[in-house]
Amino acid sequence: MALWGGRFQSGSSDMFKQVNDSLPFDYVMASQDIFGSIVWSRALKKAGVLSSDEQSQIEQTLALLSDDIETGKIDVSASSEEDIHSFVEAYLTDTLGDLGRKLHTGRSRNDQVATDFRLWVRTHLKGLKQDCLNLIEALLNCAQREKETIIPGYTHLQRAQPVYFAHWCLAYVEMLKRDVSRIDDLSERLNQCPLGSGALAGTTFAVDRYEIAETLGFNGPCLNSLDAVSDRDFVLELLFVASTSMMHLSRLAEDLIFYNSGEAGFLQLGDDVTSGSSLMPQKKNPDALELMRGKCGRVFGHLQALLVTMKGLPLAYNKDMQEDKEGAIDTVNQWHICLCIGVEVLNSMSLNQARCRKAAQQGYANSTELADYLVAKNIPFRTAHDIAGKAVVAAIAQNCALEEMSLDDFKAIHEDIGDDVYACLSLEAVLNKRNQLGGTNHQCVLSALAKEVKNLDAVKRSGA
Ligand code: ARG
Repeated sequence: MALWGGRFQSGSSDMFKQVNDSLPFDYVMASQDIFGSIVWSRALKKAGVLSSDEQSQIEQTLALLSDDIETGKIDVSASSEEDIHSFVEAYLTDTLGDLGRKLHTGRSRNDQVATDFRLWVRTHLKGLKQDCLNLIEALLNCAQREKETIIPGYTHLQRAQPVYFAHWCLAYVEMLKRDVSRIDDLSERLNQCPLGSGALAGTTFAVDRYEIAETLGFNGPCLNSLDAVSDRDFVLELLFVASTSMMHLSRLAEDLIFYNSGEAGFLQLGDDVTSGSSLMPQKKNPDALELMRGKCGRVFGHLQALLVTMKGLPLAYNKDMQEDKEGAIDTVNQWHICLCIGVEVLNSMSLNQARCRKAAQQGYANSTELADYLVAKNIPFRTAHDIAGKAVVAAIAQNCALEEMSLDDFKAIHEDIGDDVYACLSLEAVLNKRNQLGGTNHQCVLSALAKEVKNLDAVKRSGA
């Protein structure tokens, strides 16, 4: 039964229902719609619209509906109602007759949907924050397990300077910490309650909007009714925060796909997160990581789609805005899945330390050290850079590493190079010289790791 039949002489066409109905996807907001409806019925009682008895009948009926949905006795998604709001009201009217028809007094689906969706996003942000924290924990565990492992660091995907693998893990921890802080910011900003704004101009009934907001767990009511029903910034922000986090996951995935390649061979992925080829028996493909990378496309698309949908919409509510849901629901699902599979990938992968070390030693990654060594001999850096470059050319010609060149060969390149150059060129020396805050010196990395473990502990103890 439609909520708005009075003005119409014939029903909707099938095609109109297809374009118009949102129940096939907004049924996921059932519990939020029921919660909001209960709180609205209490506000109506206080405003003198419902008697105590009427309100308690409504509240009990809605509570029963909520139980039946939770236990699976009622499958909301199978209903042919227009949307979740119509569904809940229809159930109430079916059960309570005319009393059910009183609930919508002073309320509009416009303030209702804005309220429900904020509640829905708020709930899911809590879960997603936990997912981010779990991935941070997996990265810290990985760093702990591999705290001695050295890998080549890259710029332009050319071996640049060696780093500890734990340093790499901690880089992604920083990104995820920013994702978490964006989730926190958004959770705070979206926490304003539209309910009581009516269709667009406010409600005529004497409801206490502060109390409604508080009971629904909001920090306060939205202050302008036009804005309250037409604002979807919180959905856009969700999509942006998710997109940024997915971009981080995609970079993590890309690094690991490369480290896992036959060419690099730095690590092995677990059997539980890889798949085989139907044709080539030897293959073990990094599908989980490829999908972490690949799912960015749709998530970024959802952000773009909603920006375009919202652009140029006149105030206040327009049906275009119903298009905010499918992309956001999909985004929340995909982001959640990717954060969780990231944990599984990290937990089950194993590093090939010897191969990592060998790769870190190759590629003349210590030539900056040779330049720095010459700087210590009072040669200007630009000149030292030039000399070190010549040494690299000489080593390439001999098909050896810098540290494998003889002292005579070094002397031929520059007379100031002495025996002490070899100590400077060792892998550990190269790493440990980077001992300022944020560098890859072993002590720096270990103390950064310890700090992050402590931070995470504190966040967990505070109940996230
Ligand atoms: N299903 C709608 C949505 O998701 C609910 C609001 C409908 N309001 C209206 N006046 N038709 O946006």
